Parts: sequence; C-alpha cells; structure tokens
Amino acid sequence: MDKLAAKGRIEELRRILAENSRLYYVENSPVMSDMEFDFLMHELEDLESRWPEFDSEDSPTHRVGSDLDGNGASKGFVQRPHRYPMLSLSNTYSIEEVEAFAQRAEKLLEGRNFSYCCELKFDGVAICLVYRQGKLFRALTRGDGKMGDDVTRNAVKISNIPQELTGSFPEEFEIRGEVLMPYSSFDKLNSQRLLDEEAPFANPRNAASGSLKLIDSSQVEGRGLYCTLYHIPAQSIGEDFAHSHSELLDKAASWGLPVSEHRKICRNKEEILEYINYWDKARKSLPYPTDGCVIKINELDCQRELGYTAKSPRWAVAYKFKAEQALSKVLSIDYQVGRTGAVTPVANLEPVLLAGTTVKRATLNNADQMALLDIRIGDSVKVEKGGEIIPKITGVELSLRPADSKAPEFPQFCPDCGTPLVKSEGEAKWFCPNASGCPMQIKGRLLHFTSRKAMNILAGEQTVEQLYNLGFASCPADLYSLTISQLLQLEGWKQKSAKRFLDSLAESLGVPFERVLFALGIRYVGEQTAKELAAHFGSIDAIMQASLEELAAVKDVGDAIAGSVYSYMHSPAELEQMERLRKAGLKMATEGEKTMLSNALEGLTIVVSGNFSISRESLKELISRHGGKNASSVSSKTSFLLAGSKSGPEKLNKCHELGIRIVSEDEFWAMIPGGRQPLGESVLEPTLF
Ligand code: IVH
Repeated sequence: MDKLAAKGRIEELRRILAENSRLYYVENSPVMSDMEFDFLMHELEDLESRWPEFDSEDSPTHRVGSDLDGNGASKGFVQRPHRYPMLSLSNTYSIEEVEAFAQRAEKLLEGRNFSYCCELKFDGVAICLVYRQGKLFRALTRGDGKMGDDVTRNAVKISNIPQELTGSFPEEFEIRGEVLMPYSSFDKLNSQRLLDEEAPFANPRNAASGSLKLIDSSQVEGRGLYCTLYHIPAQSIGEDFAHSHSELLDKAASWGLPVSEHRKICRNKEEILEYINYWDKARKSLPYPTDGCVIKINELDCQRELGYTAKSPRWAVAYKFKAEQALSKVLSIDYQVGRTGAVTPVANLEPVLLAGTTVKRATLNNADQMALLDIRIGDSVKVEKGGEIIPKITGVELSLRPADSKAPEFPQFCPDCGTPLVKSEGEAKWFCPNASGCPMQIKGRLLHFTSRKAMNILAGEQTVEQLYNLGFASCPADLYSLTISQLLQLEGWKQKSAKRFLDSLAESLGVPFERVLFALGIRYVGEQTAKELAAHFGSIDAIMQASLEELAAVKDVGDAIAGSVYSYMHSPAELEQMERLRKAGLKMATEGEKTMLSNALEGLTIVVSGNFSISRESLKELISRHGGKNASSVSSKTSFLLAGSKSGPEKLNKCHELGIRIVSEDEFWAMIPGGRQPLGESVLEPTLF
C-alpha cells in the first residue's frame, strides 16, 4: 500500500470506527459484530504504526470518546489485553525468607550452574512497552494483570522512553518496567499543586501513577517522569534469543532502552545479602524511590524449570526494605481540629531529610500515643515515613532528653473555638463537640467536600479559608449559590479564576452518587463504605429511610458506622443540607435512577460542539437530565446542533447540508426550565463570560 492509499484507508477506518462505536455505545444498536470491529481497529493500529505521520491523538486507537466512558473504558483510556499476564512478585521483609528462597532454588536446581541477578525494586507504577519494527507501538499499565490501560499517548511523553530503537532488535517484543517520579520532580509538582490549591500527592509513587494516567497528555512531559525497564518476557522474544535475564537486559540497553540500573550478578546467598545490605543504605542517595531489592534466578532455562504460581514467578523474590527512619528534634506541638472535630497532635520538627523529602511535621495521632511515647518539646525523636503524607514519630531517644523538659499537657479546650473537648468511651481521640460553630471543623468539611476524591471542585485551603472568612460559605450547599460578584471579592481572583471555579462546580453535578455520599463527610464513611452504601441502597432517599439494622446489614458496615449514618440521616440540619444539594442538581441516586431535572428535552437528539460558558461535559449532563439524548456526530436523526464558539466546521457544514437547526448557548438555556439552572442565574452571569 502506498502512502496516499494508507492515508485514505486510515481516514476511512476512523470514520467507520467512530460511527460504529457511537452506534454501539450511545445508540445501543450495533450493526457490526465485536470481531469485525476489533479487526478494523487492528488494521487501523497497524497502519498508524507503519505511517506514524498520520497517527493522531484523537484516533479511536488512542482514545475513547467521552461517550464511551463508563462503558468498559477506564477514565478515558482504552483497555487492552496483555499478551502475557503481567504478574506480581512474592514479597518479603525477612532476610531469612530470602535465604530460604536461595536454598530452595539450590535444591530444585541441584547440579545446575546458575546465578542470581539482584536488582533494585523500583517504587513506581508498572508499565509494559511493546516495540514493533523498532518503534514504540504500545504502552499498557498493569491493570488487573490481564487487561491494562493503553497509555501510549502518555508514555511517548516520558523523555527516556525511546520511540525508536537502534541496532538490531527483534521484529516485535515486550519489555516491562516501572515509571517513576524522581524526588526532584515530586517536590516541584507538589509545590505547584499547593500554589494551585490542589491536593498534593501523598508520595512519588501515587504521583507517578496519577501522572501516567493523565487524560491530557500534554501535561505529562512537565511531570518529569522517568522509566526503568527490568523484565522481557522470554516468550515475547523467542526462547532461544538469550541465555539469561541479564543478557536480555544488556541487549535491550544496546537498543537504547533504559534498563534496570545497579543490577548485579550474585553467585550465592552471601553475595545476595551483601547486595541487600549495601543498597539498604546506598539507596538513600538515589534520585528516585526504591522500596527493596529483587532477586531473580538469572538463567532462563532455570527460570522455565521453576515456573510460575498464578500470581508470581517462582524464580524471583522481592525483599522489601523496612520504612526509613531519621532523627529530629521536636520544636513545638500543634493540636489540629479535623472536620469531624477530632483533635490530632502534630509535632513541628527540625527539618530533616527522610526518604528523599524534607520532613518538618509528624503526627502523634492522639493523647494516648503521646503519653505512650512520653514525648516532650526538645526531645530527639525517630521519624518514619509510611504511605501517608505526614510521617509519624515512632520513638524518643531518651538519652538525648534535655534535663529541664516537661511533658506537654493535652488541651482541655478546642484550640480553635474554645469549647471543652470530650472523649467518649472506646475512642482514642478527643473531640470538639461544637460541630456547627467550630471554624476548623466547618472549613475542614468544606475542604473535604471539594477534594479530588469527593466533588473535585477547584477550591483548596486558601479559597475555602477566604470563602469562610468573608461569610460566603459555611456549608457545602452554600458553594452552589455563590455569585460571581462574591467570587471576584476573593483576593487575587479575576474573571478567569472565577470561571474556572464555576466550571468545576458545574462539572461536580456529574459526580456519581457514591462520591456525593463520600463528600457529605459522614463520620466513618470513607470512599469504600460510601461505595457499598450507594450500591446497596441506590439513593439517598433509601438511605434516609433505612433502619439501623438495615444499615448494619450492608457489607463492611458495622454498628458504629450504621449509627453514624443513621444519626446523620435524622439530623434536621443535615437533612436541610442534603435537600439544598439535591436542589442544586447533585446526584442523589446511582446511575439509572439519576435525578431528572425535567423532561423539557425529551425526544430530542442533540450534538454539542464548540466552547461554552460551562464545560461540554456539564452541558451533556444537563441535556440528559432534562430528558434529551446526546450524540457525537450529526446525522439525519439529529434534532439540533448546540453550537458554541469554535464549533467544528464539519459539523456545521453537515447541519447546513441536512437542514438541521443550529442552536446557540443562550437559546439552549431558554429551552430548559429555570434557564441557567440548576446552578442559578447568579452563578453564571452571561455578561461576564
Ligand atoms: S520483575 C514476573 N523487577 O514490583 C515479574 N519487578 O511488588 C516481573 N518491580 O510487579 C517483575 N522493581 O511492578 C521486577 N527490578 C524489578 C522491579 C519490579 C519493581 C515491581 C513490579 C512488580 C512489583 C511487585
């Protein structure tokens, strides 16, 4: 096929695939079998890899249209099967188990001349790269080990992943490894997120995983990710291609691939232990996070002999390092009041470097823990970092205690509102009972409501602080009636920031019920419990009507959670709050039972194109909640094209051709009851945008 013919076929395939995926996912009336569809998709992938100049980010091979979200795709990525399952490693924290692994191998491979390849265990997110004809063809995350998210468009933005290999490489092969976020990139990213009032990532691993799954690939480059590759499944390259794992990695390095640094061939368990001991210390000066060492039988025929369990290879074991510790000095202790009123003591420390980042604060959890540690101001303390953002203090170096130090007294009154603290039986924490009046609790609840895992509204600590201090918001429902003139009173806010905030508020109407339930901030109801409750009851009304027994019957819901949910659902103040949120348009039921706003658009098939005063996603959500049907392309069945600025010329032309009406944003608002409802006219004043 020549270049021109390839271009024509690529365009044709994209058209056919787009139309058929719309028929399948949106119209629920496929006309093509899955096999035919997959076959055409493969043909397109093949053509795009052979003529990368015709490849495009919006090709169906790279992205799933928004209409496909929730129908098999995971957050904007196509899921694809792994050719060979992507397995895990058996982990241990015990040197004895590493020795036992070596002994077992020696016994099973008795008489064989074999060695161990010892490597670092990189702490990032696993990735599988497929190279075809020397070009990066595909990048998949591990997913569930059988299917992974196709993150090719993001992987190409990682600077040390070569898009083209050099030397004489096999026609096609897979190589697996880890995408890491070096500490320097992590610090830079989190500082920026704090400035932008976005929640910082808890650790470089989460940041790497979040960055690899960014929907907007153009942001990936700036995240400073780094890749290291450590495994070529022998089946993918031919069993006879190399004799050992290290030889495979050496070959991969010669093709320009970034392979597992600092690996070493060890002959016996003594050498393995030497490697582990060396890296337990030396890893602290590496620029990226590692959490252990991996010991692999190096010879491929020996690996084959040992084989695999369902989860991991029998020819490898991961030894995980214990959490890193550092010594620092307690400068002072703050008592923080959380959104539930719980008071947490937090120690301010002399800055100390720990696991690649500077630690200045560490949690002391509660009064009992403080007493148990017998901690005092001026004490030298051992600090450890787990997965959390705030490290913890695990011990006091009593030999370094100043002679005149005194045990700190846990406050009896709320450090914020002065209300006497209470402690119920069985609780480890002291609580401020002034839920409705304590500013820290109110701001904490707002912040929780807006957080990424809840409603994902662009409001961080500073915004919440200002909204509260100016008297504009003291509960989540207040956010939905904020006016543009109020927002413009916030320090440093201009129309652009106000619009961004309003867009995110509008988008939050599309947040599924389970996250709304989590966002309410009911005590003990975390993400998982919210999911269980939402799946079990299906709607807020059903939860409101549930008895204590019915609540406690839900999976993972014990008496304490049931009691907390029950009293929340019977509190007049919370009921009023939930009604206001319902009126604002938040989802109060699982999909399928979603809260309809009207049937004003019933029977209409609408195509949305261009830019509007709110996001396209929010508009589509409104269309469906007013009874309309969204479609992605204009056809004779389209009722009208809702056209914003920069509306696609192809769509406009098609409308002219077929005589289909074109509706402006203002005309659209006039079609639905209440106009710019449900967010309220005050929020979206047309003159401002
Ligand atoms: S080899 C067939 N080598 O750790 C298994 N994995 O906790 C191939 N990991 O699933 C994996 N560093 O994501 C291997 N040097 C290394 C590694 C490594 C980190 C990851 C990998 C694995 C996980 C297990």
